Amino acid sequence: MHIMEVLIRRYEEKDFIEMLNVTMELWNLKMKHYTKKGIDINTSIIKDTGTIPSKLNEGIIVAEVEGSIAGVVHLDFIGKKVKEAEKMSVLKLVKKYGLVRLLRVRKMGKFFEHKVKEDELHVHGIVVSNRFRSMGIGSKLFKEIENIAEKKNLKKITLEVLDSNISAYNLYKRLGFIDVAKSVFSRQQQQYFKSNSHVYMMKKL
Ligand SMILES: CC(C)(COP(=O)(O)OP(=O)(O)OC[C@H]1O[C@@H](n2cnc3c(N)ncnc32)[C@H](O)[C@@H]1OP(=O)(O)O)[C@@H](O)C(=O)NCCC(=O)NCCS
Repeated sequence: MHIMEVLIRRYEEKDFIEMLNVTMELWNLKMKHYTKKGIDINTSIIKDTGTIPSKLNEGIIVAEVEGSIAGVVHLDFIGKKVKEAEKMSVLKLVKKYGLVRLLRVRKMGKFFEHKVKEDELHVHGIVVSNRFRSMGIGSKLFKEIENIAEKKNLKKITLEVLDSNISAYNLYKRLGFIDVAKSVFSRQQQQYFKSNSHVYMMKKL
């Protein structure tokens, strides 16, 4: 069998659309309950609100396979350099998507905000595109995450995972993450996320 070559590298501006599409394979899992719309509209909201700026200096790692983006990691850490996002004016946003949908998306985003500590590298999101899963790309991305944390002299890597996401949870356990806390969702959140709770996990370096 042809051995796939996986290049783990920093995000570049030319990757924007592909990176956004792969990222949405993760976010849309959560957002579709909020917006009751398909992936295209959610992707376009993320783009127009500047939730992920196209010009980034740091914080996004990609896995490239034969010229395509196969995986994306979004990292948070103190002092992360990010260029100003180009976002649509609020008026235009409301006209395009409606106020209620925008508020719902914003509310959901707030839920996933995590205050990073000085000594922490937080994995805000990790996703491998469906057709590339279970080939070791996620594990390779984690190796790079650890390298980054060590270079920055950070002491721990943290992440959050829905307890319904057994396959991701098992991977994190195998990579040495331990459960730190579990937060039980409200009924409304349970409906949105199709999960009872989420687990906060950590790996000490
Ligand atoms: C979670 C995710 C990023 C993992 O990426 P991946 O590239 O599939 O990860 P890997 O291939 O390194 O590991 C995944 C699987 O292979 C197994 N595996 C990989 N390398 C292995 C090895 N050397 N030995 C044994 N098992 C191995 C893992 O145990 C795991 O088992 P599974 O097939 O039952 O899931 C990916 O499944 C994904 O994008 N999921 C959807 C989005 C998501 O849920 N993200 C996480 C949100 S917190």
